[in-house]
Amino acid sequence: MTGKPLRCDKVWTGARLATMSAASPLPYGAIEDGIVAARDGRIVWAGPRSEAPAFDPAETIDCGRRWITPGLIDCHTHLVYGGDRAHEFELRLQGASYEEIARAGGGILSTVKATRAASEAELFASADRRLAALMAEGVTTVEIKSGYGLEMDAELKQLAVARRLGRERPVTVRTTFLGAHAVPPEFKGRSGDYADLVAGPMLDAVAAQGLADAVDVFCEGIAFSPDETARVFAAARARGLAIKIHAEQLSNLGGARLAAEMGALSADHLEYLDEAGVIAMAKAGTVAVILPGAFYFLRETQRPPIDLLRRHGVPIALATDANPGSSPLTSPLLVMNMACTLFRLTPEEALAGLTRHAAQALGLQDQIGTLEAGKACDLAIWDIERPAELAYRIGFNPLHARIRNGQ
Ligand code: NIG
Ligand code: FE
Repeated sequence: MTGKPLRCDKVWTGARLATMSAASPLPYGAIEDGIVAARDGRIVWAGPRSEAPAFDPAETIDCGRRWITPGLIDCHTHLVYGGDRAHEFELRLQGASYEEIARAGGGILSTVKATRAASEAELFASADRRLAALMAEGVTTVEIKSGYGLEMDAELKQLAVARRLGRERPVTVRTTFLGAHAVPPEFKGRSGDYADLVAGPMLDAVAAQGLADAVDVFCEGIAFSPDETARVFAAARARGLAIKIHAEQLSNLGGARLAAEMGALSADHLEYLDEAGVIAMAKAGTVAVILPGAFYFLRETQRPPIDLLRRHGVPIALATDANPGSSPLTSPLLVMNMACTLFRLTPEEALAGLTRHAAQALGLQDQIGTLEAGKACDLAIWDIERPAELAYRIGFNPLHARIRNGQ
């Protein structure tokens, strides 16, 4: 240790680091005997002890050889909603399909009814419990979508609750306006008219109140056509909002390609994605967000084209897709396990999917997602011997501590 001490307020020592840095040639960007130093909530230094400068921290934390990873990032959730869909689960077990239930007015629309009827306080309380489950497994950033209001006030209510969770809980919340999630009953048979309402007055209000960081559309036979999707995206771009898409979940409408060509941060689900879509995503730098919870819960058999995504160098992120209908799942660790068992990701790819690539799916790659100087000091400290354990266990939580902005 040489030179003037580096100013910082906290230092974690005696740790093994999975930095997840893209620049590292080592698996997980691993460092055997590592140090992380933070000042004012940001990482000022992360690396091997042998190369560390001198520090003068107010507080030193010995990690006892535990592993530190970047705080986990759940980049696709529908955490704020009313009611539940346990009864539809029973119906599906008796043979009804997800699409049949949706077309019969259940599915997303049954959650819409419950969400419209719920007060802000009720929505906050139920989402807060689900958020606590995510945080208990090391999540420090979560994206939350609207899409269960499908009318102005109820959409604004959902987004306001999501923003409030971010203010009142020690977690970073990014919000996404998903007004085009389903066609509301008032617009039955007139999806184009509703898409125009979303792209016009609803987006205006959302943007004016600063309630959303991005705009998402469910592009699917039971939801919105590529043409309607493009209209909503054009309006979002015109207002300076990022775009994301639910695409190729149940069929291939070319939604991922459309979104990529319009500059989307991510395209999500992707079971039915074809090579043209993969190439368009690679070209645009659009992240592939895969959602094994929905694949599992809907007993889907078509897998997303992981090999094609790898071959074309498309970054793969993972998320819980926490929602009442297709993925009532609030465990990022189980998502890692499912991505490996169901989609044959490696444990390292799975961890990148909940850290570096998830950050990119939110446009936050300069701020979070790796243990590197300049980024937020968001850490998860684990009682494990090797990082692959995070994907290996089922229903066991080895989190030792969760640090967000250095706290
Ligand atoms: O991400 N695909 C559309 N939206 C959700 C499901 C919503 C629901 O069924 O309530 C999803 O899977
Ligand atoms: Fe979703």
